[in-house]
Amino acid sequence: MKRIAVLGSGKVGEVLAGGFLKHGYEVMRGTREPAKLAGWKSGAGTGASVGTFAEAARYGEIVVLAVKGGAAEAVLELCGADTVHGKTVVDTTNPIAEKPPVHGVLSFFTTLDQSLMERLQQCVPAAHFVKAFSCVGNAQMVNPALPGGPPTMFICGNDSGAKAEVRTILDQFGWETEDLGAAEAARAIEPLCMLWCIPGFLRNDWVHAFKLLT
Ligand SMILES: NC(=O)c1ccc[n+]([C@@H]2O[C@H](COP(=O)([O-])OP(=O)(O)OC[C@H]3O[C@@H](n4cnc5c(N)ncnc54)[C@H](OP(=O)(O)O)[C@@H]3O)[C@@H](O)[C@H]2O)c1
Repeated sequence: MKRIAVLGSGKVGEVLAGGFLKHGYEVMRGTREPAKLAGWKSGAGTGASVGTFAEAARYGEIVVLAVKGGAAEAVLELCGADTVHGKTVVDTTNPIAEKPPVHGVLSFFTTLDQSLMERLQQCVPAAHFVKAFSCVGNAQMVNPALPGGPPTMFICGNDSGAKAEVRTILDQFGWETEDLGAAEAARAIEPLCMLWCIPGFLRNDWVHAFKLLT
């Protein structure tokens, strides 16, 4: 089992770190303030640890990026490019703008011509970014139990080995995987977050996930 770094002290970091621990991985969570995750660490048991963003990124053989979209580039800078060199980076982030939703529709700070993940890939060309977990709420990320069966996680990235690693994780986490190709496909995957959130903002319905029917 590879060691996992989960960069992020928010809900996504907590849920995914819990999922990896449940499936037998060792996990270090990264944050600017490790002290604030001390309670999580003591409750999470053996296999769980906490460090700075850079310490966690160095520790992880696979790195999960679960930070605020607008801070993702700064977090990669705090980690240092060498800590993620040659590693799979599972990119859960969404480029949500600091604006309220309009009739339930979020705004992004990116355009449809360049996704956040492409920007992150440009920041650290030697890392292997794979978009995943961005198009579903945290409550359904690990082994979702929806009446319609296993949902579909849309992924993309430039490295086929990294995508194979993410597919293995998604199999364990109870997902079907739809590989949409290279990093540019994140231009289409990231806005699925907007679509996913609309029923939540309009009707307080947050329990759903996408499934591709063929
Ligand atoms: N919430 C969901 O259900 C959901 C679902 C799918 C995708 N996502 C995406 O997953 C990501 C994480 O979401 P979240 O809700 O767990 O948490 P979040 O509140 O979006 O992000 C929290 C993390 O961002 C870091 N951060 C915030 N501002 C920063 C700054 N200026 N510099 C450095 N780091 C900063 C925090 O660092 P510290 O630890 O140092 O405070 C923390 O680790 C987001 O990109 C979100 O769009 C969320």
